[in-house]
Amino acid sequence: MFDLTKVLLGPASVELGRNLAECLGGEAVPVETKSFPDGESYVRITGDIAGEKVAVVQSTYPPQDRHLVQLLQLLDTARDLNASELIAVVPYLAYSRQDKRFRPGEAVSVRTIVKLIEATGAGSLVTVDVHTDKILDLFRIKAHNLSAMAAIGEYFSKLKLLKPYVFAPDEGALERAKTLAGYLGADYSFFQKQRDRETGMIRTKGRDFEIKDRDAIVVDDIISTGSTIANAASILREEGARDIYVACTHPLLLGGAKEKIIAAGAKEVIGTDCVASDVSRISVASVIAEFLRKTL
Ligand code: R5P
Repeated sequence: MFDLTKVLLGPASVELGRNLAECLGGEAVPVETKSFPDGESYVRITGDIAGEKVAVVQSTYPPQDRHLVQLLQLLDTARDLNASELIAVVPYLAYSRQDKRFRPGEAVSVRTIVKLIEATGAGSLVTVDVHTDKILDLFRIKAHNLSAMAAIGEYFSKLKLLKPYVFAPDEGALERAKTLAGYLGADYSFFQKQRDRETGMIRTKGRDFEIKDRDAIVVDDIISTGSTIANAASILREEGARDIYVACTHPLLLGGAKEKIIAAGAKEVIGTDCVASDVSRISVASVIAEFLRKTL
């Protein structure tokens, strides 16, 4: 039986948390937060959660270390205040791109994060479009990865796109592009991308596609510096695409990434509220709510 009663509004995801509580008909519990003069984080849960089934909603986008500490503080405190069950809703799971040792001696950072979350006593974790599903296997608690593609698809289905064609900026993102294309009844393809592990430089090659006078959507899980997507957008522009839309689940958009992508030829950059940003106009609240309703 579905009986989640309280949604804790982590400081990184207040709006998303409120929307989620509304979708679920649960009570939103505000969190008081501040930074001490030396930079340490303070959180205080302002409602009574003893004996309640609680979802802690806190994404861990930049500043990810601060957001991570707040997440751990909230989970640990909720457990300490006797929540009967604790679900960590972490739409953007920081460090998920460092899921293996690419060069000798490197930290497998996401493994450390997984251990810390588990140590708080959270009973399960829900994330969205995690960089790779393999991360879920690192958890001993139940870990679920949801897709934002239905929500992104709903957004694009309301636009009047001309013969839309969905692109993944690299092969790793192909499944997402395929899923989104499925919602839109569109074609899909991917670019070939190579990243230099030391310099971070990205090279992208187009593949065989006919995009002239068609609308294109490039979709990725994360836009960080924007280089991956900008490369894809500029190839599409050279190939004569009509309008180029860029969508992602996690719009980190660091240091002028959005401007870089627009300069490369994109008409619009759109993202979800997994990360709070000025392009986060698509909410994943209903996707998370639907999942929690089905599984709790
Ligand atoms: C990596 O494989 C991810 O899926 C994204 O493509 C990548 O994180 C985007 O990074 P940036 O925006 O810096 O190119």
